[in-house]
Amino acid sequence: MIRWFLSFSYKYRYYLLAAGLLIPLVQFFRLARPTILKWVLEAGEKGDLAMAADYTLLFIVFIGVNHLLQYAQVLLSSYAGLKIVFEIRNALYEHLLQLPFPVFQDSRSGQIIVRLTNDVENVKAALSGGLIRVVSDILAIVGILVILIAMNWQLSLYVIVAIPILLKVTSVIGGYIRKGMSSAKALLSKMTTAISEMIFGGEVLRGFGKEEPYQARFSGVSREFTDKYHQLNLVEPSYYGFVEFSGSFLLACIIYDGTLQIHGNTLSFAELVAYIAYVQSIMHPIRHLTGMMHNLVNAHTSMVRIFDIFNEAKEPELIEMPPAQMSDYSIEFENVHFSYGEEKVLKGLSFKIREGEKVALVGRTGAGKSTMIKLINRFYTCQEGQVKLGGQDVKNLPRNHLREHIGFILQDVYLFTGSLEENLALFNEERMERSQKHRVKLEQDGFFDMEGKEVVANGANFSLGEKQLMAFGRVFIKDAEIFLLDEATSNVDTQTEHYLQNHLDEFMEGKTALIIAHRLSTVRNADRILVLKDGVLVEDGTFEELVAKKGEFYEYFRHQDLKYLD
Ligand SMILES: Nc1ncnc2c1ncn2[C@@H]1O[C@H](COP(=O)(O)OP(=O)(O)O)[C@@H](O)[C@H]1O
Ligand SMILES: [Mg+2]
Repeated sequence: MIRWFLSFSYKYRYYLLAAGLLIPLVQFFRLARPTILKWVLEAGEKGDLAMAADYTLLFIVFIGVNHLLQYAQVLLSSYAGLKIVFEIRNALYEHLLQLPFPVFQDSRSGQIIVRLTNDVENVKAALSGGLIRVVSDILAIVGILVILIAMNWQLSLYVIVAIPILLKVTSVIGGYIRKGMSSAKALLSKMTTAISEMIFGGEVLRGFGKEEPYQARFSGVSREFTDKYHQLNLVEPSYYGFVEFSGSFLLACIIYDGTLQIHGNTLSFAELVAYIAYVQSIMHPIRHLTGMMHNLVNAHTSMVRIFDIFNEAKEPELIEMPPAQMSDYSIEFENVHFSYGEEKVLKGLSFKIREGEKVALVGRTGAGKSTMIKLINRFYTCQEGQVKLGGQDVKNLPRNHLREHIGFILQDVYLFTGSLEENLALFNEERMERSQKHRVKLEQDGFFDMEGKEVVANGANFSLGEKQLMAFGRVFIKDAEIFLLDEATSNVDTQTEHYLQNHLDEFMEGKTALIIAHRLSTVRNADRILVLKDGVLVEDGTFEELVAKKGEFYEYFRHQDLKYLD
């Protein structure tokens, strides 16, 4: 997994390499400082004040250079980090866009949002500064340790004992925080879901006066999240406290032991000061490393979550080999069985719609009508039987070939943020011109004055009927040979419906169409009618045949508009 994340870094390897090469340089200028300090003190002891002044100047120069180099290092690594994360985010979005629909069944929108935002940010922290800093810290710790041992091995025993203890405690605490983080993340997803529900379901919640119970539900999750973080917060500062305390304790031991050594003339005062300066500078990377640990742990949790998504297989171009082409634009179901989960939704459907035929599909709510459209589009695939377009199983049709020839209107129309033209053309540059014309035409035909109107998120600034007009526009502009319509005229007034019907008749000329409809007027115009009941086709025939039969279909429409039936 880590290797996979690093593969994104490859493009920016020169930045990272440069930042990496700066590590030893930065450390050199940092680690040399206590030694220069020692030289200043030794020059002072010898009474050579000019020399002491020179060394002091050198000390300042080293600090300056150290910080300049460090600045360059941070700049390089954070630039690379930003870019890498930019690529990961894009790849993630692209991947999500290509996942098969069943994947979205159980993963909630909140989870996906958190992964694309919060998780990606965490990874950035690790990939940019994080790794470089960790390497740099480790190098510093090793470097200082070597210097300390070279300076005075006896005093160094304290340090050698202390470091493994500190590192061990760090890894134990790290494990604890990692576990906590994972569950906190899951709660964060729940909160995000609740927030988006509050926005999109706001009208229902308030209209029914159910703000309070929903609020209670949200604050439940929110409290859990807070508690989880509180637990982590209890651990973390006490851990830092532990590090600080052990650092001071270590220092006290060294000062005492060092004083004894000075007394015994085995150590000079200047050496002790330099030694203490080194010990203090080893504490800095240790403390820093433990701070970074939090970030890295966080990043690791996030990486796992992001990687999970990448591990989901994309919607395949072809489900079965060999690839085929449609020979015409007919639709055929052969003994199709389908279920989303446990319960069977379609139970052995068989029928054929010839090229150019217009077939109406009727049936009670929940009968499985919309599901049939999803199978034709191959949003879902049937478990048994075959759905065929142009004589070929949709499983053998390349995805783009399949969808290129289908125009569909679903029950819920989704509008995207952007201009109306973009929504009509669905961001397809080539169709923009036709989209423009279509908008103008709608306006001329007396529909809403839409010029320059921008669509806000979820198309909230459009009425349902207007959305449906847009959905029709999309299909008209795409002008595909197979047309699927899912009860889409239910939200427009009769006059608009009439207008659409006229256009539709003209548009459907020569096209193969499957139209789910509840209105008798729509059904009547079809060449044939299929009646679906509980996932089974119970009737199939022309309008006159079905009326004469006085079966399901007749029952279905008996209450609607008797003049047609009599
Ligand atoms: N995404 C889904 N996941 C699980 N069950 C679903 C899903 N979509 C629809 N169903 C179920 O499948 C059945 C048929 O749904 P649908 O085809 O939408 O019916 P219709 O369009 O005829 O009203 C319903 O019982 C519904 O609960
Ligand atoms: Mg439906």
